[in-house]
Amino acid sequence: MDLRFTGAAPSDAERAAVDALLGPPPSGWEGAAERTDGDLRWATGGASAAKDRRDQLLPALHAVNDRVGWISEGALDYICRRLTVAPAEAYGVATFYSLFSVKPRPAKVLHVCTDLACAARGAGALCGDLRSEFGEPGTPVEGAVWQESPCLGLCERAPAALLLRAGGGPAGEQPTGGTSRCSAVIAPATAPALAAATRSPATAPAEPPAAAAVPQAGDPSLVLLKRVGTVDPASLDDYRAAGGYTALRRAFALGPAGVIREVLDAGLVGRGGAAFPTGRKWQATAQQADGPHYLVCNADESEPGTFKDRVLMEGDPFALIEAMTVAGYAIGAERGYLYLRGEYPRAYERLSNALSAARARGLLGADVLGQGYAFDIEIRRGAGAYICGEETAIFNSIEGQRGEPRSKPPFPVEKGLFGKPTAVNNVETLVNVLPILERGGAAFAATGSGSSTGTKLFCVSGQVARPGIYELPFGANLRDLLGLAGPAENLRAVLLGGAAGGFVRPDELDIPLTFEGTRAAGTTLGSGVVLVLDDSVELPRILLRIAEFFRDESCGQCVPCRVGTVRQEEALHRIVDRTGAGAAEDIALMREVGQAMRDASICGLGQTAWNAVESAIDRLGVYK
Ligand SMILES: Cc1cc2nc3c(=O)[nH]c(=O)nc-3n(C[C@H](O)[C@H](O)[C@H](O)COP(=O)(O)O)c2cc1C
Ligand code: SF4
Repeated sequence: MDLRFTGAAPSDAERAAVDALLGPPPSGWEGAAERTDGDLRWATGGASAAKDRRDQLLPALHAVNDRVGWISEGALDYICRRLTVAPAEAYGVATFYSLFSVKPRPAKVLHVCTDLACAARGAGALCGDLRSEFGEPGTPVEGAVWQESPCLGLCERAPAALLLRAGGGPAGEQPTGGTSRCSAVIAPATAPALAAATRSPATAPAEPPAAAAVPQAGDPSLVLLKRVGTVDPASLDDYRAAGGYTALRRAFALGPAGVIREVLDAGLVGRGGAAFPTGRKWQATAQQADGPHYLVCNADESEPGTFKDRVLMEGDPFALIEAMTVAGYAIGAERGYLYLRGEYPRAYERLSNALSAARARGLLGADVLGQGYAFDIEIRRGAGAYICGEETAIFNSIEGQRGEPRSKPPFPVEKGLFGKPTAVNNVETLVNVLPILERGGAAFAATGSGSSTGTKLFCVSGQVARPGIYELPFGANLRDLLGLAGPAENLRAVLLGGAAGGFVRPDELDIPLTFEGTRAAGTTLGSGVVLVLDDSVELPRILLRIAEFFRDESCGQCVPCRVGTVRQEEALHRIVDRTGAGAAEDIALMREVGQAMRDASICGLGQTAWNAVESAIDRLGVYK
């Protein structure tokens, strides 16, 4: 693509998709059909206006991609004119995300997960069957194309696939799922089921309810999952009848400082992976003199093996909306952004519905619950980039830049979204705030062990009888958890924390599932992934998949990570069938590269990319 304005014109559908988002173009300079005398006489916009609109770049790219299935040169040019963005920059953004294409492709794209949980449950054979049926990934067949995908967050139903179909719009088909495109989830997937759904998406079987992913659904001991499967996720009345909005009322009674006090007393730490104390983050944001303050809910959930946030958002969407309102109130924000991964169409639909219902009842808007507090939430869809879950990469993504992490300091609480004080919190972290306010911080802290307070959601997948999300009080150990899920008979290893986590052995099941317990055992809870592998799994292939994932997902900004992830994958390829002395040289090389990545990468991706492979070598003795 030529990286300047080329004069290529958008099609009517592309123009309509962009105008539906941005409104009709106000002048010839912004893409109106003709330049008027007024356009030629008056200068409008300028750098400041362009900066103000830059955050519409990602939604505009989505609009075209959803409507047409890919982003043509004419469409990109039109978006650039509308937003006063240089084409080279917009091209850099469009090509950053795997759900977008700047090359022509069919309207139907079938994403087939080949990541860890799906690999452990037959994704390799499934892809083999698809090759026979449809040819190599990327080959257009019958108006569709299939491609291999990183984790789709459907691990309890592995192997999984997601079909996205562009279309919709005023003159097109009615979209499903609240998004401007149609989608179907096929999981567990077989090649015949995928072929049938791809040929005729409307006939794809309906998805099971979110509660199907919760083997404990209805258990009275549940705290975070208590409403999943027991209330209608589409009904605000049901949510309120089940105790919804009690926490927000209590928050207004306590005042912002009182809310932060309760969260500090509760000892809540972040569930997104870094385990940072939430109360301290909120306090630091609330104290900043600069404004406005922002709240960002991190719902990007792309760590392979993680699907807890999806189940919360699909099964109890109002809980997240209420929790974000409480958080916004505590930190003094009037605006919250919910950054949702693009591969979660049902969560998008449920959350969009919940936002509209909350607005209609005065639970969001200019005067929340008549308390004189103004707050609203906007959903921003990601477009397929694991790195956008990193808290500063989210800011760049929302602002319409490439989703590359920023150097810290400055930390988000000082300079975050749009350069303003921002608190970023994971979905599960936020939902914990409701029981904290309902019961009081001290009562919340009475559950748990050591400095890990409350309950934790675990994403159990792989070779277990009952995969799904489990909620246990901190302090339970891995054996307790696997006892509930029905452990593999010939257990070989458990991966804790996802691709950025570490493997443990079958004789290590007494590890307490707490932040400090896993740390003391030289591993991590991470985002709560518990991937169970039996001895039928070829571990070197799983390690290769991990390395491939990090090589693909590295944003490429810093050398140790960009080059190191490639070298790591090359070395793992060389030793995939080797052991002992035959692997020693490459293992030594990986150790050296891994240490450089840990020491010198800007963000957590590069710093942790070698962890799982290192643990497989040292703990499991994979290449011995
Ligand atoms: C590469 C990378 C990906 C991440 N992805 C996510 C994610 O998908 N969801 C999430 O909540 N946190 C993710 N994090 C952690 C965030 O940077 C941040 O710590 C978290 O959102 C803070 O929220 P918490 O304090 O509530 O955990 C990721 C971090 C890194 C380095
Ligand atoms: S460590 Fe990797 S993902 Fe993180 S900023 Fe550097 S290149 Fe990008």
